[in-house]
Amino acid sequence: MENRDSFVSSLGILLAMAGSAVGLGNLWRFPYMVGTNGGAAFIIIYLLIVAVLALPIMYSEFILGRKAQSNIIGGFRKLAPGTRWGFVGVICLLCTVMIISFYSVVGGWTIDYLLKSLTLSFTSSDAEIDSMFTDLVSSVWQPLIYMFIFIVVTGCILLAGVKDGIEKYSKILMPLLFVMVIIIAVHSVTLPNSGGGVEFLFKPDFSLVTAATFLDALGQAFFSLSIGAGMVFTYGSYVKRKENIVSLSAQTAIMDTLFAVIAGVAIMPAVFAFGISPSEGPGLVFVTLPYIFAQIPYGSILAILFFFVLFIAAITSSISLLEVIVAYMIEEWKLSRKTSVIISVIVITILGSFCSLSQGVMSDVLIMGSNIFDVFDITSANILMPLGALSFVLFAGWKLKKEDFMNEISSDGIYKFCPSFRLFIYWSVKYLAPITVSVIMISGLF
Ligand code: PHE
Repeated sequence: MENRDSFVSSLGILLAMAGSAVGLGNLWRFPYMVGTNGGAAFIIIYLLIVAVLALPIMYSEFILGRKAQSNIIGGFRKLAPGTRWGFVGVICLLCTVMIISFYSVVGGWTIDYLLKSLTLSFTSSDAEIDSMFTDLVSSVWQPLIYMFIFIVVTGCILLAGVKDGIEKYSKILMPLLFVMVIIIAVHSVTLPNSGGGVEFLFKPDFSLVTAATFLDALGQAFFSLSIGAGMVFTYGSYVKRKENIVSLSAQTAIMDTLFAVIAGVAIMPAVFAFGISPSEGPGLVFVTLPYIFAQIPYGSILAILFFFVLFIAAITSSISLLEVIVAYMIEEWKLSRKTSVIISVIVITILGSFCSLSQGVMSDVLIMGSNIFDVFDITSANILMPLGALSFVLFAGWKLKKEDFMNEISSDGIYKFCPSFRLFIYWSVKYLAPITVSVIMISGLF
């Protein structure tokens, strides 16, 4: 226990948590979700869900990890010895392996686009930009090589450990990320005819809201805040008892949400200024943006900046994913950090290769109608993450005694929250979150 690596500063924890949360989910998935769900109304629902539902889940996952001071598998065994709760760890580990496998493929595309932007390869012909993306994702070697580079970079950062790797890099990379995305956002809103995009983001039209909008907002919140997959549990296990879990979680959620909204401001006004449909979907970042960058003043510089931001955001998220796996191997298999990193890099490379090839030569390998990439994406976000989240709140709300829960939340009384707020947290963990998550899961599965 003594030689377990841990975070050294509260700011470091916060930036590492935010580094995990802020990722492709914010820059690529959020704008496209907002685009396909009618804009501002979706954002308002998303904010509500983050505040009342996602936060209790995050607190639960966080306190359990900190209490266990162990990896996701061993941790549950420690929290509930001799019970079936250990299975939660297995679900989370599987979920993490699936996410990082397809995440690394998109991370690889990001590296490729960063290099393309550096060599000024974007033209203003939309057909060329379109085929540039399709050619890349469907070819064999190029995406595989970049995916491998992405995984190796992630592994190298993790070799340095928690405080000298994750914490140190997050402290440098996260502020840089905010500054860069703000520069792009400022530029985007000053484009001629960008007003429509700003209006789309901030003027709600509730007539477009359906039940599916709520489901999309919930799924987006889980993915974006990295909850339910064991990441918060694992980082929580590196946190000392004196840290304020409630405030760290809230600050992480605020940073993540703020970043998503700024990313929306960076992307939507530009999309509107060029008369492109906001509901373009997953191609928004890789197809629409290069087309826009090719036509605006300083576009080539902004393109480099944007793909660099995307790369950094993806890396700080993937280190958190890989750490869940590495922590498990170090503690349960008694391997060194180096060996654990090497083995997990090999495993992720193999699984990621299937995801990558499923966009091209293996596109006819379908599991229940979806290619491997989509199966990994859908299974992790729609089934395993909600299942993980549900398990965390059930454990924290029903298995822990009420006074233990209150002690964990307040770090043994160091932090005094007003009694009604504490009770609100407790009831949301015990009833609100499990019921709502079950509803989403059941409707999601249909
Ligand atoms: N939150 C990350 C993103 O938005 C993805 C992620 C999910 C990271 C789960 C860790 C765990 O890109």
